[in-house]
Amino acid sequence: MTVFGTLALAAEDPIVIKFAHVVAENTPKGKMAEKFKALVAEKLGDQVVVEVYPNSQLFGDDKVLEAMLLGDVQMAAPALSKFSRYTDVLALYDLPFLFEDLDAVDRFQQSDEGQTMLLSMQDKGLIGLGYLHNGMKQLSASTPLRVPADADGLKFRIMASDVLEAQFKAVDATPVKKPFSEVFTLLQTKAIDGQENTWSNIYSKKFFEVQPYITESNHGLLDYMVVTSDEFWSGLPDDVREPVKAALDEALAYGNQIARDKAIEDKQKIAESGRCEIIELTPEERAQWVEVMKPVWDEFQEDIGVELIEAAYAANQTD
Ligand code: LMR
Repeated sequence: MTVFGTLALAAEDPIVIKFAHVVAENTPKGKMAEKFKALVAEKLGDQVVVEVYPNSQLFGDDKVLEAMLLGDVQMAAPALSKFSRYTDVLALYDLPFLFEDLDAVDRFQQSDEGQTMLLSMQDKGLIGLGYLHNGMKQLSASTPLRVPADADGLKFRIMASDVLEAQFKAVDATPVKKPFSEVFTLLQTKAIDGQENTWSNIYSKKFFEVQPYITESNHGLLDYMVVTSDEFWSGLPDDVREPVKAALDEALAYGNQIARDKAIEDKQKIAESGRCEIIELTPEERAQWVEVMKPVWDEFQEDIGVELIEAAYAANQTD
């Protein structure tokens, strides 16, 4: 091949977007990523190729952001709990009992405050391209949890978040920060007693097979931010960046609907499996969890910003 032939080939090389995530394919994030890949192919043909790596195959959430800044991966959607090395404000989303439901979360995320938070890591080289829901978290454990005192002395796996650490300390439990890929084995070998997660993660990673009790606590939110590196994103030609962003927006709307459906369907599948008991709290029992966990807000209000917390809380009102 001539020199010119090699150059011509190189010029036609597609732009590759590696999208790494840690959950199973049959989850809101897994399905959103596949939808994004298909939409990019539809809009841009061979010009841009999205490669999706699920199940922590390429990077776990503890490494993916560093890898992104090094250019080894172009997109990821870590849980909002996993950005604490890059910004303080996203810790907002971990505050227990902040949002009543996903409608309130939507109202806040679409507000000016919510949208501004997408750019809270720009000075570190990361850009948020949009939010994706998973859903409200439930508590699972090896023993039944009805009131906070039931968690006393138990070890819970948490994501790498200081708010979540404080939340479990507030009920006199021992929180242990561990990557998602290790949770099943930690539960199975009884190295930990429990964990908090959404119905979709508890179902798709089979946590319900190794946790005899799940308390439907809806005590916190597990949502994601799709992020990319500023360097990669600003380096894309406009006629590529715009259709990629349009594909992502469409995929996120699709993923957000899947999140709502899966919270119902996957809970149902867990209930039907007969593998564990789902505990529904009485209003009085739930009020006890609120009373013990909510004071955690005070510890973090300075770092997050009181006004931001107030704006998020106000999103529960429909006016
Ligand atoms: C977890 O670590 O529990 C979650 O962040 C996993 C995920 O991405 O949903």
